[in-house]
Amino acid sequence: MAKRSFPLSKVYGLLEPGPVTLVTTAFRGRTNVMAMSWQTMLEFEPPLVACVVSNRNFSFELLRSSRECVINIPTVELAKEVVRCGNTSGRKVDKLGALGLTAVPAAQVGAPLLEECWASLECKVVDTRMVAKYCLFVLEVVKAWVDRSRKDPRTLHHRGRGRFMVAGETISLPSRAK
Ligand SMILES: Cc1cc2nc3c(=O)[nH]c(=O)nc-3n(C[C@H](O)[C@H](O)[C@H](O)COP(=O)(O)O)c2cc1C
Repeated sequence: MAKRSFPLSKVYGLLEPGPVTLVTTAFRGRTNVMAMSWQTMLEFEPPLVACVVSNRNFSFELLRSSRECVINIPTVELAKEVVRCGNTSGRKVDKLGALGLTAVPAAQVGAPLLEECWASLECKVVDTRMVAKYCLFVLEVVKAWVDRSRKDPRTLHHRGRGRFMVAGETISLPSRAK
């Protein structure tokens, strides 16, 4: 067998589900953005997403207080900004301004869309029962925006410790799945 034992501490990098995202939050005049990749779909429609936002992050406070956020999906062109969003806290600095990211007003939530991202999902917190134990929020996507002119968006997928896999090619196969 070619496979070898692998450290449990690195398993997340194998299973990490969706693309790395940039989550924007806003509350009482403060706006922030952080990198997130621990999110997963829970339901098709209305779309429900579960995500883990650590209580050590400033975004946790803004999300818990406002009960709203936008999940923005960046592509490889924003890789450096993604890493900076994920390695600095917005508690004392305006990360959006520092990174030159453009905030666009959302339709249904107070947090902004990020102009430079390929897609943006406006979300409301609908279940906080697992926040205390796991920092896990259940979000409902109430409005979605996608730049359809970008056919094969090259999203980033975190492999751990600053390594990313870049998606891009789309293949179509017969399938019963939605
Ligand atoms: C690729 C990447 C993925 C990340 N995923 C998550 C995540 O899913 N949940 C989380 O709480 N923090 C995650 N982080 C860490 C936060 O983005 C980081 O702690 C950030 O500085 C928090 O910013 P804030 O204090 O301004 O909210 C990730 C960081 C990187 C670089």
